[in-house]
Amino acid sequence: MTTTETVKTDILIVGAGGSGMRAALEAIRHDASVTIVSKSLLGKAHTVMAEGGIAAALGDVDPEDNWKIHFKDTMVEGVYISDWRFAEKLAKEAPDRVYELERMGALFDRTPEKKIMQRAFGAHTYRRLCHVGDKTGLELLRTLEDQILHNENVHVYDEVFITKLVKNRGKVTGAIGLSMRTGKLMIFESKAVLIASGGCGRIFEVTSNSWESTGDGLALAFEGGADMMDMEMMQFHPTGMVWPPGVRGLLVTESIRGDGGFLYNSKGERFMLRYSPQKKELDARDVVARAIFNEIKEGRGTGHGGVYLDISYKGKDFIMKKLPGMYMQFKEFAGIDISKEKMEVAPTTHYFMGGIKVDPDTTSSSVGGLFAVGEAASGVHGANRLGGNSLADLLVFGKYAGIGVSEYAKKSELQEIQKETVEREADRIKSFLKKDGTNPYTLTEKLRKTMSENVGIEREEKGLMKALSTIEEIKKEYKNVGVGGGLNFNPGLLQCFELHNMLTIAELIVKGALLRKESRGAHFRLDYPKKSREWKKNIVFRKSGEKLESYTSQPPEIPSYLLETLPEERYD
Ligand code: FUM
Repeated sequence: MTTTETVKTDILIVGAGGSGMRAALEAIRHDASVTIVSKSLLGKAHTVMAEGGIAAALGDVDPEDNWKIHFKDTMVEGVYISDWRFAEKLAKEAPDRVYELERMGALFDRTPEKKIMQRAFGAHTYRRLCHVGDKTGLELLRTLEDQILHNENVHVYDEVFITKLVKNRGKVTGAIGLSMRTGKLMIFESKAVLIASGGCGRIFEVTSNSWESTGDGLALAFEGGADMMDMEMMQFHPTGMVWPPGVRGLLVTESIRGDGGFLYNSKGERFMLRYSPQKKELDARDVVARAIFNEIKEGRGTGHGGVYLDISYKGKDFIMKKLPGMYMQFKEFAGIDISKEKMEVAPTTHYFMGGIKVDPDTTSSSVGGLFAVGEAASGVHGANRLGGNSLADLLVFGKYAGIGVSEYAKKSELQEIQKETVEREADRIKSFLKKDGTNPYTLTEKLRKTMSENVGIEREEKGLMKALSTIEEIKKEYKNVGVGGGLNFNPGLLQCFELHNMLTIAELIVKGALLRKESRGAHFRLDYPKKSREWKKNIVFRKSGEKLESYTSQPPEIPSYLLETLPEERYD
């Protein structure tokens, strides 16, 4: 017999990062009861890796800035496959969400006139990132946590892994998971479920993402029948650490370049002058990442396989004030004093632009009762995301999600989850507990390796096909996956769950990348190096029974009052 615990709640939020917390806050303002479930701990989220700031056109530093220019920058960066309805909301409402966060207690850096300080970031026309040194994501989480932690209408279940969404007559009515602390099966009966569990950077070998980002919420939604869009669009941040090996991929914030850092190859050339004479180090992330990748590929990289990033000329006082986290990170992990020495950096898998297809007003997915927000949702960033737009996204759409999901919950009834459903899920979970099972860690490493080698910054048919056949191989091996031990305190069991999710999402990433026969934003195909007008559309996947279906759709037509903000190139 498995021990179970049942929780009844209006809204179940899967994921405890910035988007989930912002949505929870809004939902309780709309009188809903909220349960937040995290496989990790509340606030232990990829949100912290948005170090450099929140993009919002306050115009505090550059008064010429306004929401229309932010809208334009967002659409240009997304290479016109993002949905203008998201981009407009994001650009228009980000300033209010920043001021609101400030009222909640976030301590932003200040201009001499005591306005909110804003820094430059790649491909933003103006200095726009409201920041707290290089720890903005952390401050955002801390502030939101303060708001919800003591609220009696929010309950948090840490270290619970959701293994299944439960549906009744086509609508999501809750979820089942395992408490990794107690070994109890957790049954969540809820009127609606919001997926806020972030992205899937851990599918790749070199990543800025911590161990949590294995695409769990994405896989749950896909298995539950939700439409998944832009799955080929993975962002590679230009600068991650390359050495020592234990921290390879760890984020080196774009703030370093935003605050004046320069990139050099091993010959001492400031190579961005060659790749992007106008914007240089502050061109779009895909442009800078590809330039670094190319320098290394052509033999002008450093001994550890990176390029140099240097901000030492700014001096220690400046660095300790604006980049204290980076100073500590390099000092402690690499023994480098960045106020005196150059850093070694290389691109790292950072952010997933694809995800669950949602409605811009309510964040509802194509499945009744299922909603998504933040990195788990698609539509906002298209083919590429501007730095700082992730925090703006989670604040703006966290609010929409909180309203959307609580309005839905008001019109719905709680449904009991059938005993047989629980027992079937308990049996499935227990089937992973076997001594002679295939090691899930070995299979995970095999998956991550093939994704980094074949589905990275540069892609082509041959490599993508190779990745696909390795995924098929791993799927076969997965049938016998298993670990010893019991239901509680069993990281191997967790790895079995995560591997399933990683495989599911990796397959969609590769299939999307194969279908998109062009290069656009973060998706660069060596065999189709140009953007194609024909591909100015989104690829959508969905599971129908055991079959994978795909279709393409045009992004919604942009209305004339917004069209006039965009450059002519949009017709390409
Ligand atoms: O480089 C950074 O600080 C990352 C920011 C972001 O991804 O938004």
